[in-house]
Amino acid sequence: MSNNIVIAIDGYSSCGKSTLAKALAKKLHFIYIDSGAMYRAVTLYFLRNNIDLKDHEQITDALKNIHLNFHSRDYQTHITLNDEEVSEEIRQMPVSDNVSDVAALREVRHEMVKQQQRMGRSKNIVMDGRDIGTTVFPEATLKIFMTADPKIRAERRYKELHEKNPDITLEEVFENIAHRDYQDTTRAESPLVRAPDAIILDNTNMTPDQQLQFALDKVNTNK
Ligand code: CDP
Repeated sequence: MSNNIVIAIDGYSSCGKSTLAKALAKKLHFIYIDSGAMYRAVTLYFLRNNIDLKDHEQITDALKNIHLNFHSRDYQTHITLNDEEVSEEIRQMPVSDNVSDVAALREVRHEMVKQQQRMGRSKNIVMDGRDIGTTVFPEATLKIFMTADPKIRAERRYKELHEKNPDITLEEVFENIAHRDYQDTTRAESPLVRAPDAIILDNTNMTPDQQLQFALDKVNTNK
C-alpha cells in the first residue's frame, strides 16, 4: 500500500476542472495530470489514421502504436503523441467533436485507466476527468465533483477558443458541451457519475480563487 495523496476532480465538460486542478497542484506541489488530454490525443491519432470505431482489432492495434507523454512546465498540460507536441491541436473542434465517441470505447478506456493508475502509484497527484473518483482511483484521498450552469460553461469555453479561432460560434461550443455531457453520462463503460463520497462544487458564481480556497479547505479537513 502506498501513502501518496491522490486528489480526484471529476465533472461535466468545460466547468473549470483543469483550472482548479492546476491551481491546487501548484499550491500543494503535487503533479497535475489532465486525463482528458489523453483521450483527446488518442482521438487525434484515430482521426489522422481513419480508425474505424466499429473495428475492435483496428482499435487494439492502433492503441499499441500510441505513446503518450506529459511534460509538465508551469503546471500547464504539455502532451506528446508519439513525440509530437499536440497540446494545442487536441483542443480544436475536430477533436472535441469526436472525443466522446472514442472515450466510450472499452479498449481505449482500459488502456488509459491502466496508464493513469501507473502515474498515480507513487506520487502525490491531482488528476481531473470524468471517472477518476469512481474507476481510476476509487480510494482517492479527496474527491471533488464539479458542475456549473451549462450556459456559463459554454461562454467560458467560447472565450478561450475564440481567441485562437475567430470563426467559432457560441452555439457550436454550447452544442458540443451538451452533446459530450450526454454521451459521457450515458455510456456503458465508466460513465460520468458523481462518486457517493465526492464533494460537489458548483462554480457558476465563483471566481477561480474562491474555488481554490474551497478545495484547500477540504484538503485541510481531510488531513
Ligand atoms: O476540458 P473539457 O471538460 O472540455 O474536456 P476534457 O477533460 O478535455 O475531456 C474530453 C473528453 O474526454 C470528455 O468529454 C470525455 O468524453 C473524455 N474523458 C473521459 O471519458 N474520461 C476522463 N477521465 C477524461 C475525459
